[in-house]
Amino acid sequence: MEDSSTPEARDEWAAEREAILAAGTPEELERARTRALGRQSRLTEALRRLGELPLAERRERGRVLNRVRAELEALVAERAAVLKAQATARRLAAERLDMTLPGRRPRIGHWHPVTQTRRRLEDVMLRLGFTLVSGPEIETEWYNFDALNMPASHPAREMHDTFFLPAGRLLRTHTSPVQIRAMQAAGGRLPVRVAALGFTYRRDDDPTHLPQFMQMEGLVVDHGIGMADLKGTLWAIAREVFGPHAEIRLRPSFFPFTEPSAEVDVTCAVCGGAGCRVCKQTGWLEVLGAGLVHPHVLRAGGYDPEVVSGFAFGWGVERVAMLLYGIDDLRLFYQNDWRFLSQF
Ligand code: DAH
Repeated sequence: MEDSSTPEARDEWAAEREAILAAGTPEELERARTRALGRQSRLTEALRRLGELPLAERRERGRVLNRVRAELEALVAERAAVLKAQATARRLAAERLDMTLPGRRPRIGHWHPVTQTRRRLEDVMLRLGFTLVSGPEIETEWYNFDALNMPASHPAREMHDTFFLPAGRLLRTHTSPVQIRAMQAAGGRLPVRVAALGFTYRRDDDPTHLPQFMQMEGLVVDHGIGMADLKGTLWAIAREVFGPHAEIRLRPSFFPFTEPSAEVDVTCAVCGGAGCRVCKQTGWLEVLGAGLVHPHVLRAGGYDPEVVSGFAFGWGVERVAMLLYGIDDLRLFYQNDWRFLSQF
């Protein structure tokens, strides 16, 4: 009969104890724990067989076994804490903060090149005495077409590949509807001298056309406005935007909302008018559409074409940005590639 209080009896569990203390990893510790305390362990087996002992022995043996179990459990917990501390120490040693490393400079953003161009154009218009106005990107057919002298049957309406929305709405195909809104807002007062910049939409998608693009519109209405006012204003704008040597020329054209109408060319900013690849050797770049406001349009805006007249013009902001920055693919602007955008 063994005496559980002797050193030999305590050594009965030496193997379990040593395995726990020798565990070098959490996995080894778990294996040692299973071996010492698991359902297949000698300890569990000994506890199970307590019932086979006579009552007096059973009590004593039970006390010993329970004490051994508590002791082994404590030993496992202790070992787990040691392993955890060792792992933390190793990790901290590897991640040691190196005060001599150079810092990481935060990236400071800047305006998108199209926004920079927009702000530059807005600046020029403000200096010329124009007021900046805006209109909704979701428009009605009336503002986008009818009021601009493009009735439903008008062929020019088909040239605008329009995104139609429910309930007679559409995504505006140009900024020209802002002309009507600005005249209405002015309520008959003179002069009307406004510029509108904003996004416009067409069902186009190729290297020179995107479904979303930005336009700028200019409108002046007053007594006795004529082509000379238009040309003088455009000339001033061209010099402000493209430089002090820029010249312009007007070619006869057609727009439903102007009469007469003109396509406006600016001397090529790349070659200064000498002729190059960008201007296809002509020395000129076609940049905007313009003309004297059609009587129907003045009337739609609440003005009497017998009393007042006006001029209007419109152009693409990305196109201006391309010329200013020497970019040959419109799509680059909206691909959101930081390597491209960070150059401006
Ligand atoms: N709205 C025209 C377009 O998007 C551009 C335009 C041409 C605007 C002539 C004007 C204008 O104000 O007078 O194609």
